[in-house]
Amino acid sequence: MKSYTLIAPAKINLHLEILGIRPDNYHELVMIMQTVDLADRVEIRSLSTDQIILHCGHPNVPLDETNLAYRAAELMQREFPTAFTHYGGVEITLHKHIPIAAGLAGGSGNAAAVLVGIDLLWELGLTQSDLQTLGAKLGSDVPFCISGGTAIATGRGELISPLPSLEGIYVVLGKYQSLEVSTPWAYTTYRHEFEHQYAQAPASLADRSHRVHSGELVRAIVKRDSVKIGNLLYNDLEKVVLPAYPLVSQLRAEFQRHPNLGTMMSGSGPTVFSLATSQAQAEALYHQVRAAIPDPDLELFVTQFCDRGVKVI
Ligand code: C5P
Repeated sequence: MKSYTLIAPAKINLHLEILGIRPDNYHELVMIMQTVDLADRVEIRSLSTDQIILHCGHPNVPLDETNLAYRAAELMQREFPTAFTHYGGVEITLHKHIPIAAGLAGGSGNAAAVLVGIDLLWELGLTQSDLQTLGAKLGSDVPFCISGGTAIATGRGELISPLPSLEGIYVVLGKYQSLEVSTPWAYTTYRHEFEHQYAQAPASLADRSHRVHSGELVRAIVKRDSVKIGNLLYNDLEKVVLPAYPLVSQLRAEFQRHPNLGTMMSGSGPTVFSLATSQAQAEALYHQVRAAIPDPDLELFVTQFCDRGVKVI
């Protein structure tokens, strides 16, 4: 039976701006996304039966249709019934390294890897754009996880425009293992507090999208100006997550106490990250935060920007 191993990187948000609410009740966003080397490994192989079987050693990862990776396999089964009948089911093993429910798109990346893996197993010959269209049916972050690198994501996050790749920027990530933030909770709470500022009708949403704040960051990315990139990090969801989770705001403040290029929460949190000019600065920051917060529940990672999404190895 054929099998593939895929690498599914984590993402951070360098910019997350909420413009308003859409007719489908999602939020209209402008995000700048970046993949990093911290990644899960996903193994996928054909089965002689018609089952979808998911394995994962992590106790908090569900193994049924509540897992986006499982739903990715179901989606492929529905979309390509002839290939499914011909090639059979799939067995998927997730080796988790990315913290879960962390704002790092770990689940979305796993789903992206399953789409790419099944395309190969079933010899479908799908393009990256085909895979991203399928990914958008699973979740807003899945299309970006397929292509990765540095990109602008608009719409509900599923419309991807690549930016020049950034090399040599290091990242320290911090997350309390036992702390999870629900993404729907973060967006619903934001809506309750800030709906009065939203652009309302489609016309004013379109107008608001001409006044996004990400332009300066895009220019800094094009110039590969890491100091400016660090200064321009932005995330609207911090406005609701930080007040509700004091541990996250304390962690963010601790990161900021030490030399780095800039600090922000990723996505809907609770992961906090700082950018660093070098591996040495990132490692120093890792040790400084670890010394200040010796809590074993706090997981810290040193990683760096990467220029790709899902990769077959
Ligand atoms: O698309 P995804 O399933 O990953 O989104 C998870 C949740 O985050 C949605 O159910 C919604 O509550 C919120 N969300 C949103 N607007 C977006 C993306 C996500 O309100 N653009």
